[in-house]
Amino acid sequence: MDAVDLSRLIAVARKGKAPFVIRDARVINVFTSEITQTNVAIAGDTIVGVGNLSGETEYNAHGAFLAPGFIDGHVHIESSMVTPASFAQVILPKGTTTIIADPHEIANVAGKEGLRAILALSKNLPLDIRFMLPSCVPSTPFEHSGATLSADDLAAFMDDPAVLGLGEVMDYPSVVAGAPDMLKKLERFYDRPIDGHAPMLTGRALNAYCLAGPRTDHECSNYAELKEKLRNGMVILIRMGSAANGVREMFDGIVADGLPTDRICFCTDDKHLENIRSEGHINHIVNTAISRGIRPLDALKMATIHTANAYGLRRVGAIAPGYRANLILFDDLHTIEPKLVFANGVPVDPDARIPSPPVPDAVRNSVHAAPVGPEDLKLKALPFMPVIETVPHQLVTRLITREVPSDENGFFAARDGLNKLAVIERHHASGHIGLGIVEGMHITGGAIAATVAHDSHNIVVVGDNDGDMLLAIDTLKACGGGFTVVSRGEVKALLELPVAGLMSDAPVPAVIEKQRALLEAAHALGADDACDPLVLLSFLALPVIPEVRLTDCGLFDVTSMSFLYRSER
Ligand SMILES: [Fe+2]
Repeated sequence: MDAVDLSRLIAVARKGKAPFVIRDARVINVFTSEITQTNVAIAGDTIVGVGNLSGETEYNAHGAFLAPGFIDGHVHIESSMVTPASFAQVILPKGTTTIIADPHEIANVAGKEGLRAILALSKNLPLDIRFMLPSCVPSTPFEHSGATLSADDLAAFMDDPAVLGLGEVMDYPSVVAGAPDMLKKLERFYDRPIDGHAPMLTGRALNAYCLAGPRTDHECSNYAELKEKLRNGMVILIRMGSAANGVREMFDGIVADGLPTDRICFCTDDKHLENIRSEGHINHIVNTAISRGIRPLDALKMATIHTANAYGLRRVGAIAPGYRANLILFDDLHTIEPKLVFANGVPVDPDARIPSPPVPDAVRNSVHAAPVGPEDLKLKALPFMPVIETVPHQLVTRLITREVPSDENGFFAARDGLNKLAVIERHHASGHIGLGIVEGMHITGGAIAATVAHDSHNIVVVGDNDGDMLLAIDTLKACGGGFTVVSRGEVKALLELPVAGLMSDAPVPAVIEKQRALLEAAHALGADDACDPLVLLSFLALPVIPEVRLTDCGLFDVTSMSFLYRSER
């Protein structure tokens, strides 16, 4: 804000007559935990006063509650499969007006160009988007991603006003071991916010990790873990997105112990559009907290000012002079359903499409895979082979051994509940292909493929016949990435994700409709509801979740951190 703007706002505050006033609201003060029935005056995007002020235009709240807009402390926009503008369109009506995003996914595909693109796509939107720079690209050395980001690469983005600090440091073994590359990144960001990501880390290893710089954690899955990390000076982000392990138990522990909540915030991490629409976003976590006995004002502070404080955001998270006019009106303090949201002082229209900045060419046409033919998908059958067994309702898998069926040439034939799985490197057309066998996906007469395949986002495809698997691969190559379901030589459903193979720039309703069609087509092939087959497929190539995964380098045993077999290409 320049001096002219500031002087104008000071004059408005002094005179008590603002361009816009929300009159007669029960205003929640996050500093004093008071609720006062009064007026809030707004000039442009800024709150200029709370109290006996009048407006050139006024909105009468008729005694509804008025809270600051919610802040999501850690989220991957790419996981919504839409651009930042479309994501804003979905979450703003739920009351989330600021997000702290980690562009880990697009960075794994497109490196620095990916970072530049997501920063450009996030500018000048009604949603306030801040960034933590991805610290672990690639995530692991057991796969090929599209890019590598060094400490110097990340430092080039530090001066962007939207950049806050360093994103989730998930490679905690490197931190605890003092690996030089990791330490270089941590040193560069030592005085900035650094997000941690250290599930179940405890004792001396946790001491070492906290000492190295990470100051938040969103991976707690039980109360004891939450408390130990709080003691170590970490800010805890309680996560409810696709994953919500132990959330209710953590709230119960906080209530039972009367634990201070000023170092506890909320985040979603990954949450699909359809779930946000039906369930809510940060408001869903607030309501869950309240339902477990957290006092409503404490829950609201965890969703606003505590997050702002944790990340050094000085103009959001409260209703007070100088803060952004990001506001939520609602009627019931115990079940918060926003009835009107203001973003930068402007009412949010839940039905209006938010225009997106243009998608940079650098993140289009991101699928560069070497040609894949029938010979490439042949997997030599051995009498007993390691198989990935899926676990209902979970993303973990089990490593099992099976006697597998083979064809007349001695190659694995997908039947008897076993499917073939392939991961095809798609960034540098290297020809790397990992082949494996999966039990529990129940695909018959077709194949499902995706370019959303955490964290390297290669092409992952599962099926019961090579013809459909090849068609699925070629379909995604032709459209620049996405999800597809094919059956008996025909494409049954396709969601194109032309932005880095991760996001769509189509209107939100069209994306949701195509997601529904994909699920329906997957179910028609036999996939059941034990786990969303599209989500499951997206995680089968992530070599950090137990027990066994397939990457473009081969079949990987996560428990022993070693390959069961490597692919020959
Ligand atoms: Fe994350």
